[in-house]
Amino acid sequence: MTAPASKLLQPITVGPLELKNRIMFPPLTTGYEERDGSIGERSLAFYERLARGGVSYIVIGDVAPVMTASPTPKLATDAQIPTFKALADTVHKHGAKVALQLFHPEYDVPGVGRMVMGSMAAAKAAQEAKAAGDEETFAAKMAESNEIRKQAYAKLHHDMQHFVNEASVEQLTQIKEAIAASAARAQQAGIDAIEVHGDRLVGSLCSAILNKRTDEYGGSFENRVRYALEVVAAIKEAAPQLMVEYKLPVIMENPDGTPRGKGGLQPDEACEFAKLLEGAGIDMIQVAQANHTGNMGDTIPPMGAMPYNWTLPVAERVKALVSVPVATVGRVVSVEAGEKILEDGSADIVAYGRSLMCDPDIALKAATGEPIRECLNCNKGCVDAIQNRQYISCVLNAENGDEATIAIKPGEGDKKIAVVGGGIAGLEAARVAAKRGYDVTVYEASDHLGGQIVLAAAPPRKDEIMRSVEYYEKILPGLGVKVELNHAASPADLNAADAAIVAVGAHDVVIPVPGADSDKVVSSWDVLAGKVELTGRVAVIGGGLVGTETAEYLLQHGCEVAIVEMLDKIAAGESETILPLIMSDFAEHNVEQHVKTRLTAITDEGVEAIRTTEDGAEEPVKIACDYVVMAVGSKANAFDLDGVTVPVTCVGDCSGERTADIASAIRTAYHAANEL
Ligand SMILES: Cc1cc2nc3c(=O)[nH]c(=O)nc-3n(C[C@H](O)[C@H](O)[C@H](O)COP(=O)(O)O)c2cc1C
Ligand code: SF4
Repeated sequence: MTAPASKLLQPITVGPLELKNRIMFPPLTTGYEERDGSIGERSLAFYERLARGGVSYIVIGDVAPVMTASPTPKLATDAQIPTFKALADTVHKHGAKVALQLFHPEYDVPGVGRMVMGSMAAAKAAQEAKAAGDEETFAAKMAESNEIRKQAYAKLHHDMQHFVNEASVEQLTQIKEAIAASAARAQQAGIDAIEVHGDRLVGSLCSAILNKRTDEYGGSFENRVRYALEVVAAIKEAAPQLMVEYKLPVIMENPDGTPRGKGGLQPDEACEFAKLLEGAGIDMIQVAQANHTGNMGDTIPPMGAMPYNWTLPVAERVKALVSVPVATVGRVVSVEAGEKILEDGSADIVAYGRSLMCDPDIALKAATGEPIRECLNCNKGCVDAIQNRQYISCVLNAENGDEATIAIKPGEGDKKIAVVGGGIAGLEAARVAAKRGYDVTVYEASDHLGGQIVLAAAPPRKDEIMRSVEYYEKILPGLGVKVELNHAASPADLNAADAAIVAVGAHDVVIPVPGADSDKVVSSWDVLAGKVELTGRVAVIGGGLVGTETAEYLLQHGCEVAIVEMLDKIAAGESETILPLIMSDFAEHNVEQHVKTRLTAITDEGVEAIRTTEDGAEEPVKIACDYVVMAVGSKANAFDLDGVTVPVTCVGDCSGERTADIASAIRTAYHAANEL
């Protein structure tokens, strides 16, 4: 337990609203909404869970005022109002307030829409021709449909870069009117506030980098922010009862001094604009990071990419200039950090984005001092999910995304549970079993908890992943869980309990090629565990996640590195927000990347392999090196159940589910412990 928070829990008045505390959920596209953008059961359950966790203010991200093809919420027709009313009613039951973040995409929505409809009409005509046995017309109409669809994508791609400059004043006016109409519907639905999305189309217009217009919306600072202020005025007129706040995207600086993001304002202009926003009647300003580079990692940096809460210096400047409340967002991962921001007077409200996906009870726990489960900023279950057009499901929170159906069940009587293995799966199983009221003992053969997470934390930028283990170290004692380190569990230990959960992890494997038993061959796990120290030139076999991370670790330790990967891509499956960081590290250190290359032998000189060329031919490759590091995957460990008489469930890597996958470890453990 830590000291209960005091600042975060103080109420605050924002325009016409009384917020019960200073913890807000910033706009996060979730993928939970219905296909037409209405609020359905999954969304309702998620936002209700947040509200139940005590957050005072929830912003629904990227709500479009028009029917777009993008998978975001939409409040574009009156028919959708009831679903948003259900949202407002649900959130209000728990004393929270809710806002819609209204935005317009950076493309000609009706124009692209007409092309998509044209493509669909041609496809329909093709099917009708086929049914009538007219193969010639079928082929012609299908070709027409495909061509129009291709053109629609081409227009979309073009518009994303040029619509800001090509949109006519008439189009901009129509968009503004659509946003205002959506705000009016929100008011009708009982929604409390509108957040103007200052990025996207509005941010492109504000940006000196993107906006090249020569009319009244381009050129000078006053002209570039004109449209944003018109949008604010239109919303206020259409929905006069609502609180209206503004997400102010700021072009910050990368660690190497280059500008971060394009679609917003430089800090000095952002401060000027904040004063104009206050003059325009904005009730709150949320200072955030600008984007528009095509990399979501700009606004949502993965662990280690940017300092914690890197936009705070601009929030402080804005706060000194305006009298309305200022919110800060971006990599605030702890209650202590939020408290400090408020204590220092740097901002008035703290937005916890990914953190609330990971632990929706931040406000409740801030009140009791119970440790929160801190987000890793890994981006795997949230940003990657959205980029792959899936719904958000935090890797550490087994309930996230399924709040309506998954919750920890009450225990069934008194039970003793033995958990074998103190890796992340064993620890999650122990937590869930203890929360159900069971008497839990964790047996860990080594002298520390965390299992493979400790290895995963070794590469550059990855140490934040240890927060996942530290969470259990903080909470398990309070839940009465006994942890026995340096204790390899015996059948007697298991039999002394009523049931056992086995979470004994996995081991890494070696490709059995000639020379694989040579002294120069070492395991990536031993490298990351610091058991061996390598120097000179190293060939890493396997360019998956472990291989690339081991390569980065070796670079950091002064080695020269070559990677040998069978697939055609290095780091396949790595987050799109992390990949650019790895690739720039590799480019800086001249890492050789041998893709479509299969290891065949390890010799005194190095490794021999076969590369498949573009035309499918095979050619031999020789890579000279001092060491060969195997990073070619892992295999489930087996636990000897001889003599064990109590029911046993295997979870995590040893369960045969995907190995080296946190989400799978957490989920198998959670569900097994919930069924005991
Ligand atoms: C999955 C995901 C979706 C997001 N969608 C939006 C969005 O729709 N609109 C927006 O302005 N910001 C969006 N963001 C950015 C967040 O509002 C926030 O600025 C960012 O996550 C940094 O805060 P955090 O470190 O507390 O997560 C999104 C972030 C995530 C992780
Ligand atoms: S998936 Fe990772 S970054 Fe996303 S909310 Fe969960 S812990 Fe945080």
